[in-house]
Amino acid sequence: MRILGCIFDLDGVIVDTAKYHYLAWKRLADQLGIHFTTEDNERLKGVSRMDSLEIILEIGQLNLSSDQKNEYATLKNEWYVNFISRMTPDEILKGSRELLQELRAAGIRTAIGSASRNTPMILERVGILDLFDAVADGNKVSKAKPDPEVFIKAAELIGIDPVDCIVFEDAIAGIQAALNAGMFCIGVGSANVLAEAHFVVKGLNEVNLEKLRTIEKDFRS
Ligand code: BG6
Ligand code: MG
Repeated sequence: MRILGCIFDLDGVIVDTAKYHYLAWKRLADQLGIHFTTEDNERLKGVSRMDSLEIILEIGQLNLSSDQKNEYATLKNEWYVNFISRMTPDEILKGSRELLQELRAAGIRTAIGSASRNTPMILERVGILDLFDAVADGNKVSKAKPDPEVFIKAAELIGIDPVDCIVFEDAIAGIQAALNAGMFCIGVGSANVLAEAHFVVKGLNEVNLEKLRTIEKDFRS
């Protein structure tokens, strides 16, 4: 592979919004009388809003009508939007900005590949919209990760062949989506949780372009 495109998941990779998703879902679970833990929350990462609600309802063994589900998903999103509307550039995760700047200076195309329909608001709040050549998000795709649609779409938008793209992901479903797209995948987070990725780092501050090239080469050999 040649490293020509880098596609970044947003929540938990570029910005620390995973905590806000958790707080909003936790509040909803409490309201519904469902015991919901941080371990349960791992299953929600990378998963669409409605699928996340389904997982919580499954944990609580609760059946709701589709109108009720829509109502609760909307309520959770209102709480979540309340958090993210107050985000500042300080909440960009360590190393993200530097890596993006380095990649772009080297002529590598950058894109977001996120399930979130709140992607535009977050990028705008933290002021990094201009660091991406394209944004593929939950507003542009219909199939949730682990389906590869969002990453294929991102590659298409930046005009790079999927085999020449690296994906950065913090969610198990997202890593599977990247692998399903035929892309090289770097997990961002815990190596135990993200074992399916080609390589795992704790944060983007652990990588630069030279390191990416070494990781990829070592993997092939
Ligand atoms: C993903 C998050 O990026 O976006 C999930 O990891 C979230 O936790 C999903 O459910 C959808 O986000 P939103 O903002 O459209 O509700
Ligand atoms: Mg994520």
